[in-house]
Amino acid sequence: MSNYHIKNLEEYFQVYRKSVREPENFWAEIAEEHFTWRKKWDNVLSWDFTKPEVKWFENAKLNITENCIDRHLLTRGEKTAIIWEPNDSNDEAQHITYNQLHKKVNKFANVLKSKGIQKGDRVCIYLPMIPELAYAVLACARIGAIHSVVFAGFSSKALATRTLDADCKMLITSDGSYRGAKTLNLKNIVDEALEDCPDVSSVLVVKRTGEEIEMKEGRDEWLEPLMEEASDECAPEIVDAEDPLFILYTSGSTGKPKGMLHTTAGYMVYTAFTFKNIFNYTEGDVYWCTADIGWITGHSYIVYGPLANGATTVMFEGVPSYPDHGRFWQIVEKHKITQFYTAPTAIRALAKRNIEFVENHDLSSLKVLGSVGEPINEEAWHWFNDNIGKNQSPIVDTWWQTETGGIMISPMPYVTPTKPTYATLPMPGIQPSLMDDDGKEIKGNQVNGRLCVKFPWPSIARTVWGNHERYKDTYFSTFEGKYFTGDGAMRDEVGYYRITGRTDDVIIVSGHNLGTAPIEDAINEHPAVAESAVVGFPHEVKGKALYAFVILKESGESRKRDNLRKEINQQIADKVGPIAKPDKIQFVEGLPKTRSGKIMRRILRKIASNDTSDLGDTSTLLNPEVVEAIIAEAL
Ligand code: PRX
Repeated sequence: MSNYHIKNLEEYFQVYRKSVREPENFWAEIAEEHFTWRKKWDNVLSWDFTKPEVKWFENAKLNITENCIDRHLLTRGEKTAIIWEPNDSNDEAQHITYNQLHKKVNKFANVLKSKGIQKGDRVCIYLPMIPELAYAVLACARIGAIHSVVFAGFSSKALATRTLDADCKMLITSDGSYRGAKTLNLKNIVDEALEDCPDVSSVLVVKRTGEEIEMKEGRDEWLEPLMEEASDECAPEIVDAEDPLFILYTSGSTGKPKGMLHTTAGYMVYTAFTFKNIFNYTEGDVYWCTADIGWITGHSYIVYGPLANGATTVMFEGVPSYPDHGRFWQIVEKHKITQFYTAPTAIRALAKRNIEFVENHDLSSLKVLGSVGEPINEEAWHWFNDNIGKNQSPIVDTWWQTETGGIMISPMPYVTPTKPTYATLPMPGIQPSLMDDDGKEIKGNQVNGRLCVKFPWPSIARTVWGNHERYKDTYFSTFEGKYFTGDGAMRDEVGYYRITGRTDDVIIVSGHNLGTAPIEDAINEHPAVAESAVVGFPHEVKGKALYAFVILKESGESRKRDNLRKEINQQIADKVGPIAKPDKIQFVEGLPKTRSGKIMRRILRKIASNDTSDLGDTSTLLNPEVVEAIIAEAL
């Protein structure tokens, strides 16, 4: 994309107004100016949220890898596209140029073709954060195959469910993976999963850890020799704007995971546009998003968005705590990171550690900090701002979802004045609305409601793979004619949005609508508290009452727990109101989390309701032992 950014708030409002008044012109101009098309569209947008159906740039022809790689070769061929930082800090980082990326992706694409993979076929990718993961994703896109990346921390059962649902023909994995001091044998997990997936006829294996694995004859092959033999020329498959690019699974509140289907042109345009403006990307920057490519954040803001801009994007194989809790900051210093995009859960974990881990490193290269995935509590926001950004780097609190494909509500750095815990303003083209429980739109400011979007944007998921009814039911049936996000939000006096959490986490206590996030914020601000989660449980008089699970910072905390309970209650009364005081506060060692770091509130709600006979689907639970401990000590 060209180097032009939105420069100030006034210009943002101008651009925003145009994007709402003339959405088609607005997006067509961006699409026209910044991308390579083999054929232009006949029609910018057609949509109907009742079917629901959305089509952007209809009948345009393109290939996304041509936009992410080939078109940069003339001017940026020797520029680093990907910096790969390995798990072990003593191992050398790899700097992969756009020329090298082009060759690798072409070779990989030819390997896929040689195994019979064609346009429209699904390929499951189950790899750790190694360069081959990026190559594999892009190789699929090169030939028009649909990638379905499954985070390589998922169990064999979760992998099998996803592989079967997408009806994948091929699976790409590695022998093993490194996560800090641990090694995981991925191939064993794959072998177990594939016992249930007879239609996977080909498995490509990347050598990473060198451990002993079994290779099933006729099915499994090492990738490396195939890459060596393959030609590094592979003409991109020219696809239609609305041809599928990938499937990515997200868990629903009930039932099996939903395979969100994203298509090509709209996704490309939107992720590239948002990457540039939200991270204030300029040529020469070194951008690092700490997510895994197994999640939407990695798809959109490690791979596609940055590469579409010709940026340098960092992939980190390891974990923030290895070899010590200074690893993130050591990497920032080493690669002179300019934009650092991470999750509140990581910030909270690192904030608990000795500040020397931060102070030992030069973080002066940073100019933008980002947060994603859950509401960022006030304490974590300030810690991030003070200690990492040194009050110099704006924090972009980016709200979005697997389903939205790209960032929807976020400050733009140096444009939107930030406000702790607020995602602030919608991106151009995004028309949020807050709805009340009767299905009416709530107008004006200083209001609370359920967050919907009333107009399509280019990167909205088009369907749930194989289940369009479920897509309609989940997202378009709660509020007629609107996309319902499942989140609650408030809009403050100047129109800034604050996401208050999933609406299934909104708890009504004595008729008062309470978001869990502000209560947790208040609890977390107590100096002895590391993290907390608040859920509702049935109460005779109030309808629902609150149950707080609280992790203390150091087990050496000497004050009596009853005193602590009183202080926490006071803090909540002060910050949110006496109505928000929990009936029960349980001190716990840990909280049940998904592998992506989200608290599994569903389980906590069961514990709080003293209903632990059936905890439901726990296949995505990272730490089952924590659940047992919480149940044993439940109040
Ligand atoms: O509840 C919102 C929360 O994460 C949900 C989407 O999760 P997922 O599809 O896994 O995608 C995460 C990465 C984009 C949302 O419905 N969420 C995400 N970002 C924020 C957030 N909540 C508050 N503030 C955010 N910045």
